Amino acid sequence: MLRSRLDTAGEDYAAYREAMLGKLAELEAEHAKAVEGGGEKYVARHRKRGKLLVRERIELLLDEDAPFLELSPLAGWGSDFHVGASVVAGIGVVSGVECMIIGNDPTVRGGSSNPWTTRKIFRAADIALENRLPVINLVESGGADLPTQKEIFIPGGRLFRDLTRLSAAGIPTIALVFGNSTAGGAYVPGMSDHVVMIQERSKVFLGGPPLVKMATGEESDDESLGGAEMHARTSGLADYLARDEPDAIRIGRGIVGRLNWRKQGPEPAPVTPPRYDAEELLGIVPEGLKVPFDPREVLARIVDGSEFDEFKPLYGDSLVTGWARVHGYPLGVLANARGILFSEESQKAAQFIQLANQTNTPLLFLHNTTGYMVGRDYEQGGIIKHGAMMINAVSNSKVPHISVLIGASYGAGHYGMCGRAYDPRFLFAWPSAKSAVMGPQQLAGVLSIVARAASEARGQAYDEDGDAAMRAAVESQVEAESLPMFLSGRLYDDGVIDPRDTRTVLGLCLSAIHNNPVQGAQFDGTGFGVFRM
Ligand code: COA
Repeated sequence: MLRSRLDTAGEDYAAYREAMLGKLAELEAEHAKAVEGGGEKYVARHRKRGKLLVRERIELLLDEDAPFLELSPLAGWGSDFHVGASVVAGIGVVSGVECMIIGNDPTVRGGSSNPWTTRKIFRAADIALENRLPVINLVESGGADLPTQKEIFIPGGRLFRDLTRLSAAGIPTIALVFGNSTAGGAYVPGMSDHVVMIQERSKVFLGGPPLVKMATGEESDDESLGGAEMHARTSGLADYLARDEPDAIRIGRGIVGRLNWRKQGPEPAPVTPPRYDAEELLGIVPEGLKVPFDPREVLARIVDGSEFDEFKPLYGDSLVTGWARVHGYPLGVLANARGILFSEESQKAAQFIQLANQTNTPLLFLHNTTGYMVGRDYEQGGIIKHGAMMINAVSNSKVPHISVLIGASYGAGHYGMCGRAYDPRFLFAWPSAKSAVMGPQQLAGVLSIVARAASEARGQAYDEDGDAAMRAAVESQVEAESLPMFLSGRLYDDGVIDPRDTRTVLGLCLSAIHNNPVQGAQFDGTGFGVFRM
């Protein structure tokens, strides 16, 4: 059992907690923007039309009191588009089945899809495919955001390909059409396994009346061209005709109820809560990340019973590795302790990842790393080879991975700890996280050294004032680009979470993951055994 040494009465704790609460307030304000949709005017107009908001539709769809793990709520943050990217995506339980729910927000530019919307939906489809989650689309969209069509038209075709590939993989897809589903959007119901339309509400056509008039000269109206009645009685695109929105949701819940869904992963063990209070997670990570902190303090507040069997505690102790459970699901944990990854840590990680694969145990990566150690002695000691062993093990590991960025995640350390490009099943960040190729000061310093050397080589005097200005500008730019809201806006994570929610979020992810069997890389006598490093 982990024993906490956190001084919750101390000054550091109070200061760190204060700083974290400040960041959480900023985060809350950004989440609120996504929740408020297109703003008062558009929300009022939508309601006046007798329609439910997208989050109300989701709430009615979910089982009573079931949680909803919203994904990428900050998509589009820092861009010209609305925070949330005019779509809500997340995992929720419908008729007892964990489903991926994707709902257009028609109050934001008619629910049209901008470049961030498509990325968010692609990510949701990937999560559904990897974790075997049935997909429910709540459709009401003006299709492509026309002014940015060049960014989305060509890659956007994946939206429809993904739907049919999910179906081919045995993962059912359901479309509940609440309103407009035009042009390319018509292929969302078009490619779905089950389609529900609402009388006098759903409109599904490849081209609306004006476009048809332009193309062929034919006069038509919305209802005969793509109305719900027409699709239910004539074209056969609609399988069910609903009376109104609640009826469509009821039918959708019924469809999920009849999917005969069985989770294929092992059942969780009985759950014991951690022995320490999750509230204290607010006061562990130092502001500015200059001071190291012990990730065992974090583990003590998120793993079952605060129980952690540490692997190789005396070797490569800047990386903590060990076995635990979260909500009854077994986990191997890799957590950075003092920031830097040396050769020993890298080899320990590679060995540990192989052991997890041999026993089909999912892995959790808790990031707080400034990267692999540099310097002559370390290069001569083979740091590249050893870092490569860890990156090789992470890349070829077959058990599910989850990454949580709690502090720094810099350089190749981000890769070795299963950063976004290494396809963890889920990746979340705390508000305290920072991620970039290196720290802002180091990056500005490197640029300065390179510029100074180039100017000396040209025999010119170095512009010291210009250098100071350049360093300051680069530092603030890189700092801003390292922050979690910026990275989340670009879909480099699945969301920024309140540290106190970490255990719940991990539990929901692990439960979703267990819709699929958990199978590590093969240790079946046809390959090598675990390499002792
Ligand atoms: N691209 C960019 N902006 C769009 C858009 C699109 N595809 N569809 C709607 N918008 C914008 C509108 O210009 C409007 O902006 P404004 O309020 O700043 O003037 C806002 O979204 C709301 O649209 P509005 O038409 O007032 O809403 P509505 O609820 O009455 O109608 C639609 C929604 C989707 C039915 C209607 O906007 C529409 O037909 N859009 C075009 C659909 C289309 O042909 N898409 C082609 C896809 S390939």
